[in-house]
Amino acid sequence: MKTVADYIKTIPDFPKPGILFRDVTSVLDDAEGFKLAIDELDKLLDGVDYDIIAGVESRGFLFGAPLAYNNDKPFALVRKKGKLPRETVEESYSLEYGTATIELHKDAIKPGDKVIIIDDLIATGGTVEAAAKLVERLGGEVVKMIFLIELTDLKGREYLKNYDVASVVQYE
Ligand code: PRP
Ligand code: ADE
Repeated sequence: MKTVADYIKTIPDFPKPGILFRDVTSVLDDAEGFKLAIDELDKLLDGVDYDIIAGVESRGFLFGAPLAYNNDKPFALVRKKGKLPRETVEESYSLEYGTATIELHKDAIKPGDKVIIIDDLIATGGTVEAAAKLVERLGGEVVKMIFLIELTDLKGREYLKNYDVASVVQYE
């Protein structure tokens, strides 16, 4: 019986020397791998009460949208700056290899919404922290953060100790 980890390819020195890139496109290459990934992410939401799933561009969309569809929930897009057409809130953050700014439509989250944040991968936790700040600025409550992959050595989970963090596959 295969697990999600069996579908994840690791590419050394991408996009920069020294980075071990955990490639989720290899999960999507295989219909069974993709289905298994969604099923395993779904299990992380068992028993969780929430109103909406917010996914982080771009790879967070790949898993967040099918998960929202499966669970009859709406899906909010946390996008890189300059992509969303209506009024937004924005937040800048540092990455394992650079910096970026993300945005969320002001009307995507209603005050009091219980929000799941999803991304393909947590490294330092900077991206998802910025996403959480956007949700909170709009009056939402982040009830859980879920990831297909967690890079444990980068200690994102410790950085986000005030949040409920869960992942399907862990790498050091
Ligand atoms: C990657 C990944 C996460 C983030 C994790 O996205 O998909 O969003 O980095 O890093 P962190 O925990 O250190 O913040 P990237 O910014 O490369 O964008 P992409 O999904 O559009 O490729
Ligand atoms: N995003 C940030 N760090 C990453 C890594 N090592 N592999 C894949 N995506 C990433």
